Amino acid sequence: MPDFGFKDRNYIVTGGAGSIGRAVVEIIVSCGGNVTAVDLDGATLKELGSALPEGRYRYKTADLSSPEEIRSVFAEITEAYGQIHGLVNCVGVLCTTPITEVTQEEWDRVIAINLTGVFAAIQSVLPNMLSNHCGSIVNVSSVAGKLGGGLLGTSAYATSKGGLNALTKVVAKTCGPQGVRCNAVCPAWTDSRMINSFMNGENIARLKQMVSLRRPATAEEAAYPIVFLLSDLASYINGEITDVDGGCTFDS
Ligand SMILES: NC(=O)c1ccc[n+]([C@@H]2O[C@H](COP(=O)([O-])OP(=O)(O)OC[C@H]3O[C@@H](n4cnc5c(N)ncnc54)[C@H](O)[C@@H]3O)[C@@H](O)[C@H]2O)c1
Repeated sequence: MPDFGFKDRNYIVTGGAGSIGRAVVEIIVSCGGNVTAVDLDGATLKELGSALPEGRYRYKTADLSSPEEIRSVFAEITEAYGQIHGLVNCVGVLCTTPITEVTQEEWDRVIAINLTGVFAAIQSVLPNMLSNHCGSIVNVSSVAGKLGGGLLGTSAYATSKGGLNALTKVVAKTCGPQGVRCNAVCPAWTDSRMINSFMNGENIARLKQMVSLRRPATAEEAAYPIVFLLSDLASYINGEITDVDGGCTFDS
């Protein structure tokens, strides 16, 4: 394992019970970092703890669509740690409903979780990071945010991820002068709880045609670029929106 410099530093991972979030938590903890994972899925958060070395991992069950709940939980975590060195926003929900059919309710829910909640999480950690002149934030976005719709995600999902890419740049530009970096990673087709229920023969054939490596990423393959950007190894990278898509977007 490369030395990411996580030892004895403090991190928050939202969506930490998810496939990619869990892989991120495991890498940080295995490198000696302290992590608090936040997710709605308390059972998986608890189970994750039993697979990790004692003392480095904590979790909070919270609804990350609620800005009030986010601010309250993040205040507790910040108080417990003192200094927050990094935040990874892995939380997300998929929306496959076309723009012509998506309901207002579904739209609002997807934007609340994928964009507004991430904004509230970032705003909750920024005072701590800015006062320490130290911090790294990584947002897990999607190729959908660049392409106007991804391999599955469309309408509200693509819009939320496009907004997340813009939010990433806003934070990078505003907070970079004070030593706080913010970057995003855009996966495409990643083996995960999020997409596996959609993986019928027709969709698999379609996705294989869209991704030049002709296979999904593992959760670990998505997680490694995230922890790289989070770490001091990426100390001169700020405002970057990185594709981790097996060759799909090919933007310049
Ligand atoms: N899997 C893919 O193919 C893919 C592709 C592109 C982008 N992404 C992005 O990667 C990130 C991680 O997704 P994943 O693939 O690991 O999926 P996942 O479903 O395994 O993880 C998402 C996590 O978010 C949590 N969550 C959802 N709504 C919540 C809420 N209201 N409050 C608290 N937690 C909530 C879920 O419980 C889950 O643990 C997401 O932001 C997703 O949009 C995934």
